[in-house]
Amino acid sequence: MEALQITGGNRLAGAVRVTGAKNSVLKLMAAAMLAPGRTTLTEVPGILDVEIMSELLRRLGCTVELDLAGGRVVIDVPEALEHRADYDLVRRMRASITVLGPLLARCGVVDVALPGGDNIGSRGLDMHVSGLQRMGAEVTIEHGYLIATAPRGLHGASVWLDFPSVGATETILMAAVTADGRTVIDNAAREPEIVDICSMLVDMGARIDGVGSSTLEIDGVRQLSPVEHATVPDRIVTGTWAVAAAITRGDITIANARPEHLQIALDKLTTAGARIEVVDEGLRVSMDHRPRAVDIVTLPYPGFPTDLQPQFIALNAVAEGTALVTENLFEARFRFVHELVRLGADVQTEGHHALVRGSEQLSGAPVEATDIRAGAGLVLAGLVAEGVTSVHEVHHIDRGYAGFVDDLVRLGASVTRVPVPG
Ligand code: EPU
Repeated sequence: MEALQITGGNRLAGAVRVTGAKNSVLKLMAAAMLAPGRTTLTEVPGILDVEIMSELLRRLGCTVELDLAGGRVVIDVPEALEHRADYDLVRRMRASITVLGPLLARCGVVDVALPGGDNIGSRGLDMHVSGLQRMGAEVTIEHGYLIATAPRGLHGASVWLDFPSVGATETILMAAVTADGRTVIDNAAREPEIVDICSMLVDMGARIDGVGSSTLEIDGVRQLSPVEHATVPDRIVTGTWAVAAAITRGDITIANARPEHLQIALDKLTTAGARIEVVDEGLRVSMDHRPRAVDIVTLPYPGFPTDLQPQFIALNAVAEGTALVTENLFEARFRFVHELVRLGADVQTEGHHALVRGSEQLSGAPVEATDIRAGAGLVLAGLVAEGVTSVHEVHHIDRGYAGFVDDLVRLGASVTRVPVPG
């Protein structure tokens, strides 16, 4: 057990480089299973979730050489794969569900443990399941496992998503690339990570039209081939560094950033008073005064990302004025507000709204990260709180931010990792 101990008050300045996106690389690793042979992924972030995904692929029969320091993973996919994803790994990482589509396509059968807290039909996986059913799969739930079978193979279908779900779009897409005939996914998610997986699949030989739009048309092909692919840069890590610059009244150059993937969030930072410049390396964000409060409404891409909501609540907590933050994707994300309040923030929540009244100063205290982005939001708040903030449950942060502490220290923050007695 470890915590991050932060002494607030330092201005962050200097350069960082972001690597590939967590929410892309995990899916690219799953997509590799669609083609027997060696697939190489680069710009792989050195995070815990990549290690968990590597372990899952090994259990499915792949040979995985993971070079986290070099940002590279080589996945050797056998002709015959195992088809069961066990609970012990799925419970550690909900994204394990991403193997559902590729395994069903390759094996004609798949058993994936249900991620805890999810209930098929009410929330979580209903759109994944109904999409696969329309493509000819039979799906049952037994002993905590989702079991999908398609003994005669999958066929193309017309699938309309009630909501542009990232996960459901990926599951149906990966099942469709080798299905018999044409699949049309309407109201598909359009996140840059979906575009990334589509571009890798197209390089592997898939036929996909409408990439980046809300209608994906997929003509199934018989076979795909392994490729080498560079993961799209992480827009959420980029956005987190941008808020770090603004909240500490600092000046950070973020290399390998893709500003076009973050337009609304960068616009909000400009409204808050930050200066944003697109530079050769990527993006430079600076701020020389107290931020102004900015209202936020999270929505599927290209809307404001839910994964930056806690970071912006932290910014609003020290801003001049009052902001209304509306969370439309994950209501439980406001759980982190209770921790932020421990630092002296003035935040009231009501359903999926949070009213944030900016305080002149936060004061350091022990707090607990409840998920990856909550952890990032608490670290940002700790950077400007007076005194010492200890962010506990730091393993959540390790799931999504590679080399976070080293980068923070290099930029001038006073942060150390400390053991917490069990
Ligand atoms: N939903 C359903 N039924 C479904 C699928 C989704 O009700 O069949 C609901 C979910 O319960 C949720 C909402 O729709 O309330 C959004 O779910 P979506 O499928 O779009 O998200 P996801 O694929 O589960 C990914 C990211 C999240 C990110 C969201 C939204 C990964 C591994 N996770 O989740 O990332 O917040 O898209 O952009 O790609 C994070 O990185 O911290 C994180 C949570």
